[in-house]
Amino acid sequence: MRVQPTSRLRGTPRLPGDKSISHRYAMLAGLCPEETKIYNYSPSQDCGHTLACLELLGLRVERNSHCIAIEGKPLAQLQPPQAVLDCGNSGTTMRLLSGILTAQRFPSILTGDNSLRSRPMGRILVPLRKMGAAILASEGQRAPLEIQGRPLHGIEYVLPLASAQVKSCVLFAGLHARGITQVIEPIPSRSHTERALPIFGVDVEIQGECIAVRGGQQPRSPRTVRVPADPSAAAFFCVAACLIPGADVRLENINWNPGRVALFRLLMEAGANIHVERQVEEFGEETADLRVSYRETLFENFPEKIGGKLIPGLIDEIPTLSILGCRLPRGLEIRDASELRHKETDRIHTVATNLRALGVTVDEFDDGMKVHPCSALHGARISSYGDHRIAMAFSIASLLADSAVEIDGSECVAVSYPDFFSNLETLTGVTPPA
Ligand code: S3P
Repeated sequence: MRVQPTSRLRGTPRLPGDKSISHRYAMLAGLCPEETKIYNYSPSQDCGHTLACLELLGLRVERNSHCIAIEGKPLAQLQPPQAVLDCGNSGTTMRLLSGILTAQRFPSILTGDNSLRSRPMGRILVPLRKMGAAILASEGQRAPLEIQGRPLHGIEYVLPLASAQVKSCVLFAGLHARGITQVIEPIPSRSHTERALPIFGVDVEIQGECIAVRGGQQPRSPRTVRVPADPSAAAFFCVAACLIPGADVRLENINWNPGRVALFRLLMEAGANIHVERQVEEFGEETADLRVSYRETLFENFPEKIGGKLIPGLIDEIPTLSILGCRLPRGLEIRDASELRHKETDRIHTVATNLRALGVTVDEFDDGMKVHPCSALHGARISSYGDHRIAMAFSIASLLADSAVEIDGSECVAVSYPDFFSNLETLTGVTPPA
């Protein structure tokens, strides 16, 4: 994809349904004996893999134009899959589904693409084995995962890292386990699972850092749920609107979960022109409409360095944030973000490599990077490295460059946001030649 610089960014993009929430609703719907209709389900390839895995586990999944209908099976009564479960590029599919499958009465094998097979799975194997799971992994605790299917017992587990995927995996296993499962989260991560469980009739007790679920509770379908728009998809246009003179963008019905909106909050605290026009709660999740427009004097107040507890709430937005970083008067140092090295690519390295190709000086650290200020990004040929968020973040960088940027492998945007380029085209009024 060749992305041209632009001086126009206006309109209301059609944002996809939130990926994290879509995975969770689909899996929970799969555990209800009744049918659940999920509106605004994410059109991402990742969430498509979750549906395909549920079908292989014997569930009926109907894909309609406006909703997905899933008819689940009662707790612990999924059917043995007739094939290997392919999670594609999706870490959430693999880690959350593992929590459910370890407690079934049959064996299953989970695999994924090259990227997913190189990502760490030890983080779920440790707590699942403590619960009594029998799982074989490949060398280095990677997928494919061979799950035996065993009765589980509840545990108390202190998360050694902030990870909503690990938390959710343990809670989903805990739902199938004997007794109570407690997950203690010293650093909070996105709270979608503990918000979705009660929507599906499951009692969850939350006390401070501790989230507890009693095993054996049969989830009950709310019949209908609606997924809000994905704030991680909205973040690309939000940052672009803050940086392009004259820009004016509306981002509608985006998920406003406190665990997801740290980037928006940072921009608002720095004085960005971001107005929350409507805020409501639906299915246990806050949603908001935002209007974002350019403001010349924005970035004097933006922090020079971010790290610590702020990181989990903006982990998926760091590639985009790094692009903002090169426009800040003092640049931006990002620390405590070594988790980025374990995403779809090593995002510290892929971001630094692409920024350098556009003319930005970047220092790389084990746990982050320092992006130096750069007033003029220049056109170049770069790669997505097959990572959807790298492709989209650098499309935003390309809008700011002095000439076109060629992004190889840009089709991977479909992993989370298949309509990204057509939305960008509508906002900029420029049709990029493929
Ligand atoms: C996700 C959690 C985060 C995030 C990922 C989606 C989820 O990963 O980066 O894109 O849906 O739970 P970790 O749990 O590894 O932090």
